[in-house]
Amino acid sequence: MTADKPTVGIAVVGFGWMGQAHSRSYARIPSLFADRLADPELVICCDNVEARGQEAVTNFGFAESTVDINDVVEHPDVDAIIVCGPNMLHEQHCLAAAKAGKHVFCEKPVGGTPDQTARIEQAARQAGVITGVGYNYRWAPLVQYAKQLIDDGVLGQITNYRGRFFSMYGADPLGLLSWRFEHEGAGYGVSTDILSHSVDLAMMLNGPIDSVVGLAETFIKERPLPKPGEGTHYDRGAPGDPTGPVTNEDYAGCMVRFANGSIGNFETSRAIVGPQSQMAFEIYGTKGSIKWNLETMNEMDIFLTESADLNGDPYLHLGYTKVYTGDRFPFQGAFVPGDANSIGYEDLKVIECLHFLNAVATGEQHEPGFAEALNYVSVQDAMVRSWESQAWEKVGSVRLP
Ligand SMILES: NC(=O)c1ccc[n+]([C@@H]2O[C@H](COP(=O)([O-])OP(=O)(O)OC[C@H]3O[C@@H](n4cnc5c(N)ncnc54)[C@H](O)[C@@H]3O)[C@@H](O)[C@H]2O)c1
Repeated sequence: MTADKPTVGIAVVGFGWMGQAHSRSYARIPSLFADRLADPELVICCDNVEARGQEAVTNFGFAESTVDINDVVEHPDVDAIIVCGPNMLHEQHCLAAAKAGKHVFCEKPVGGTPDQTARIEQAARQAGVITGVGYNYRWAPLVQYAKQLIDDGVLGQITNYRGRFFSMYGADPLGLLSWRFEHEGAGYGVSTDILSHSVDLAMMLNGPIDSVVGLAETFIKERPLPKPGEGTHYDRGAPGDPTGPVTNEDYAGCMVRFANGSIGNFETSRAIVGPQSQMAFEIYGTKGSIKWNLETMNEMDIFLTESADLNGDPYLHLGYTKVYTGDRFPFQGAFVPGDANSIGYEDLKVIECLHFLNAVATGEQHEPGFAEALNYVSVQDAMVRSWESQAWEKVGSVRLP
């Protein structure tokens, strides 16, 4: 694309919501980030539904499409493979990529079960390829700012953390039995799907987790069957349609102890009524606290005892201060200048793709990569044990040698 930058050949596998979001995001990088270290080139898109691959060529600028993953891993122009299929296919696709020596970015949570994630991480580590994982909420400018404040000690010593991801995507019993609701397609339910985002963000902000106790529930036990090859978790069936059983959890909640001594709790549900995409956290320290919610991602509430020092009494305060995002926060200025001019969900994907592209260009491992994916599933592994034992479980590492 430009003479002074190397080209990184991109392949996307699985061209649904995420595959399309990554593809659009790579295409936007050159016009948004002049200081990128490489130019992305959309080489080939693979989807088992042929028409989706063809759409990638017609509307997204890919040079080729295929229904066969082998055409992707054997392609000489492909440097990095972006894995965006159903969770239980991540292992097959990531292992094929690593075996071919291709760098690999996998959508979260990297496999549907902790043992799959462990095998994927081992294969990529042994192949020496750069890895990435789609924990995109890390990249929100205000989340990055929160991280700076926490690392600089502005909140004091962290005492407790609340994380939640409440989504209504499965609240309607007529919502189709897409792959997300079946262990065969997704692995675990919300603990794999959306709790992974919430806990990953907590570990980025507040460090590793030592122990966990949790519980899980499936509220909607049957759902209408989709037509083969059709239907996402946002589509609906009709009353009287044939149904099938839901085989993973709608709800997961847990309490945790962080290694730094603070305490946390997490809740996640896909079958809740009210919160629509409430990926949110609250973090409390001895000198302040922060609240952030994806539903209003361009604003954040901050309470600092020191800035509220009225008449010498640090606890005589006026309440939280609302901070709007703006171009003084990380990455924001690439999208819009000034203050309080909002950015959106897919802009986080662009920032994520930029970092992975730059990592491939420099050969430096990307974070979050498969090591961070493994950190979450190690917590998940302990949580799943606690569903059985109904007791606190120590978080070990599920990493393979
Ligand atoms: N980071 C995020 O915010 C986020 C959001 C949604 C989904 N995800 C993750 O992204 C992944 C995909 O989710 P989605 O919502 O895009 O799903 P989706 O159902 O919209 O898309 C999946 C695509 O994979 C294709 N596919 C199925 N089997 C295949 C095969 N054998 N070979 C090639 N393609 C195949 C399907 O045809 C479909 O196009 C999942 O791992 C999910 O957890 C992440």
